[in-house]
Amino acid sequence: MNTASAKKVRKAVFPVAGLGTRFLPATKVIPKEMLTVVDKPVIQYAVDEAIEAGIEHFVFVTGRGKGAIEDHFDLAYELEATLKARGKTAEFEMLKASRPAAGAASFVRQQEPLGLGHAVWCARDIVGDEPFALALPDMLIHGKRGCFAQMIDTYSKHGGNIIAAEEVPHEHVNRYGVLALTEDLGNQTHRITGMVEKPKIEDAPSNLIISGRYILQPEIFAKLETQKPGAGGEIQLTDAMIALLAEQDFFSYRFEGTTYDCGDKIGYLAANVAIALSRSDIEPKFRPVLEKLIRA
Ligand code: UTP
Repeated sequence: MNTASAKKVRKAVFPVAGLGTRFLPATKVIPKEMLTVVDKPVIQYAVDEAIEAGIEHFVFVTGRGKGAIEDHFDLAYELEATLKARGKTAEFEMLKASRPAAGAASFVRQQEPLGLGHAVWCARDIVGDEPFALALPDMLIHGKRGCFAQMIDTYSKHGGNIIAAEEVPHEHVNRYGVLALTEDLGNQTHRITGMVEKPKIEDAPSNLIISGRYILQPEIFAKLETQKPGAGGEIQLTDAMIALLAEQDFFSYRFEGTTYDCGDKIGYLAANVAIALSRSDIEPKFRPVLEKLIRA
């Protein structure tokens, strides 16, 4: 791709239509993306990351029972008016800053949870003919600078499709999409030559995995349109990216930050502890409690 013609990334897609079976019974009524890490829903971390990267439009691919997500990103008129009337300015400003402006959020229903690839395809009409950021909100990435902001820098330089990557222990590669790389382009960026979804450990091309953040070109939608179900009987995004790899550049970017898989109980608990310890308003009181718990 000619980087000079790389179009600006204005939209971000958040697939939030999964069933969250690993978190039952909590997710019977509450969408798993609304479970809180310290005092913010998991989905808000991903949206804040997109806001930091300059994203202008937020597309949520939802399903039945996910109405709380729409409400969360709407204006809570009575609440905000009450906060204002009671002089709770900090809380009021925080709520205001954390929701997209009027008309800057779209919600589309996946109708059936047929897989991540299918969820992304459901956003095709809203995304249209432009590159877009894609976040799997379960993957909470914590660091000084948001992962999307870092990826947009890489995209401005190389164009094409960018995949956030990180290393995992080799014995865990069968749980993820795994990358094959060549050509070190500097600044933690490599050209991707292949990828495979949930490979057998012995077949994995590396221990570098796709970690839940992407910048993709709109041609991915045509690939998803005809994509047959893959691993787990689901329509896999990785399979459609493999098809697009024959026609377009893909680059991996090893971001700075730590990933917590909040779709998994251990990852979710770790995210709560790590973020609590990183917050100056919580850490001094929380650390002694945590230390006591660990000693017990
Ligand atoms: P997961 O496989 O982690 O989500 O999908 P899940 O199916 O909700 O989780 P479990 O395994 O039953 O606990 C990763 C992301 O893709 C979305 C999910 O909402 C999550 O953000 N997703 C997955 C969809 O939007 N639609 C799907 O059909 C599948």
